[in-house]
Order: sequence, then C-alpha cells, then structure tokens
Amino acid sequence: MYLTNSAYFGRMKIALIGYMGAGKSSVAQILSKKMKLDFIDLDYEIEKYTGYTITETIFNKGELYFRKLEREILKQVLTKDNFVVSTGGGTPCYYDNMDLLNANSASIYINVSIPTLYGRLEADKDARPLIAHLEGDALKEFIAKHLFERRDFYEKAIFTVKADGKSAEELSEEIRILVDE
Ligand code: S3P
Repeated sequence: MYLTNSAYFGRMKIALIGYMGAGKSSVAQILSKKMKLDFIDLDYEIEKYTGYTITETIFNKGELYFRKLEREILKQVLTKDNFVVSTGGGTPCYYDNMDLLNANSASIYINVSIPTLYGRLEADKDARPLIAHLEGDALKEFIAKHLFERRDFYEKAIFTVKADGKSAEELSEEIRILVDE
C-alpha cells in the first residue's frame, strides 16, 4: 500500500501524526534531514497563510473555520513530493483527512502514553489553545478522554511507532528504517 501510494517512481511523502506533545515536529525535522526531504509543519503553513498564530485563528474565527482551513492546506501539502510533514494533533480526526493521508503518504502514528504526554504538555501548554486553560487533574483527564476519542483515527496510520522513552533521534532512525524497507 505504502509503496504504490507514496514511494512510486521515487516520490517520498511521509506524514507524522499523533497527539499534541508526541514530538511530531522534532522527529519530522530530524527525519527530513536524514532522508534529504523537505520539512513541512502543517500548523506553520496555516500560520503563514492566515498571518495569525493558530491560537489567534481558533480564538477569533472559531475551531470549525480552523479545521476547514487545516483540511485545505493539508490537501495542498499532499500534492507536493519528497517531504516529511508534521500534522497537527487534530488533523487526522476531522473530515476524511486520515483517508487522504493514507492515500497520499506513508502515515506514521507516534504513539505516546498518557503519563508521558501529561508530563510534556503540563510544561508546554501555553501555545496550545485547546489545553492552555487546564491544570493538574483537569489536564490529565482531558488528555485521557481526548486521546480515547482520537485513538481510532490515529490507529488507521500505515505505521505506528511506540515512542515512550525514545529520543527524537532514535525515533527518526526507527522511522527511516521502516519507510526505507
Ligand atoms: C491541535 C494540535 C495543535 C494545533 C491546534 C489543534 C489539536 O498542533 O494544530 O492547536 O487539535 O490537537 P500540535 O499537535 O502540533 O500541538
């Protein structure tokens, strides 16, 4: 499936998916360098398009507007070749984005446990509009419920890597081997 859809005639399209704080952007940056591919951050592409931060867009225009735009920009990105894209945590969970990702890229779910996500997001939630207002148990509960709702989408990915206890470098090497095989 991956070979026919994504690597045919030497095109390489890799999409990293997973919850906020999974490390998608860090891994995508390292992986793109290793594989000599372009690095694309979907959130950054959206910010370039609107001229506003994701937080501003969601706050001023609403989440529905953001999700529609996210889908349009995702479609544009997937027409390119030779890239690693780090998607937003919600990208695979709206419309038929996950089918679009699987049809046009080697999708890889970076699977991180709830305690690890909580530890990371507690320290780095301010720029994340969906969780910036939550603390302690409320944050932990939100992550657990949200991940439960999203897991079915993430698990549709072509590949899954378990990420707890691994560095971004280790994960990118693991992914490089997976997609090269
Ligand atoms: C979101 C995750 C964010 C960003 C937006 C919504 C989500 O991306 O797209 O704030 O719904 O999980 P990161 O996963 O890069 O934080």
